[in-house]
Amino acid sequence: MLAKTTLTAALALLGGLPVASADCTRDALLAAAETYIEAQRTGKTDGLHLATSNFTYRENNKVVDLGKGVLGSTALTLDTNRSTADTVACASYTMLISSSGAKPYVLATQLRHDTGDPSVITMIDTIAATTGSLFFNAKKTLGYIQAEKWTPLATADQPSRDLLKKVGDAYLDMWTDKNAADTIPWGTDCERVEGSSLTRPCGASLPHGGSAQPNAMRRYVIDEVMGSVDVLCAFNSLGNMPDSHEIRVEAGKVKYVHTITV
Ligand SMILES: *[C@@H]1O[C@H](CO)[C@@H](O)[C@H](O)[C@H]1NC(C)=O
Ligand SMILES: *[C@@H]1O[C@H](CO)[C@@H](O)[C@H](O)[C@H]1NC(C)=O
Repeated sequence: MLAKTTLTAALALLGGLPVASADCTRDALLAAAETYIEAQRTGKTDGLHLATSNFTYRENNKVVDLGKGVLGSTALTLDTNRSTADTVACASYTMLISSSGAKPYVLATQLRHDTGDPSVITMIDTIAATTGSLFFNAKKTLGYIQAEKWTPLATADQPSRDLLKKVGDAYLDMWTDKNAADTIPWGTDCERVEGSSLTRPCGASLPHGGSAQPNAMRRYVIDEVMGSVDVLCAFNSLGNMPDSHEIRVEAGKVKYVHTITV
């Protein structure tokens, strides 16, 4: 095995063959996200291609053993899944809803990959909301989320990466910056699902500062094709809450906001 690997490497050097392919493609990211969904469905993580050194599993902003978290310890019947891909950060975002079990869940998960070998997952980062979480009612959330239309956007309707990052940040800054809400391009038919609480249009009743605690630990997955930004964070403005904010922008305007807060 070792000898064969060494030989292959030597041949690659001699022949100038590529030793590793470093393309972080949508297809590869979404295929890896499928392996994550399958792992959560079965509660078995052996199908995941995890980094052998320095792999991190984080749940609700704390590093925990993979086997002790919801992913490694619980098989969940899944009602729905939806994933987005960030080819620049080499990461993906997946939302899962499991509403029928004794312990229902709404999960927000970012996978991060080794940029040298995108097939390898270096981090699984999950916000796991369940009974007792903010506005938690998985069945109600499921109804709202299933009614949304998340199809890839036509090129002309795709927001830039820069706009998505700005909208994600401005949203999380609304509690500490009184002007942040007015910088966001709200769509008139936009809706916001916070836990299981629906607000339409989503630009109604917004915070305009008031807190001195910025929302911290922001981790982004930005997907121009889906027009989405997902930010996992420590929602400190209203107390230290593990949180996911996902926003979809269509033709320059905010269309959906989905928050999952523990
Ligand atoms: C290990 O992973 C952590 C979290 O992803 C990262 O910050 C750190 O730089 C990594 N260390 C090494 C030696 O790669
Ligand atoms: C994820 O959702 C797709 C439809 O978007 C579905 O075909 C697939 O079966 C789902 N995967 C699981 C494991 O539920």
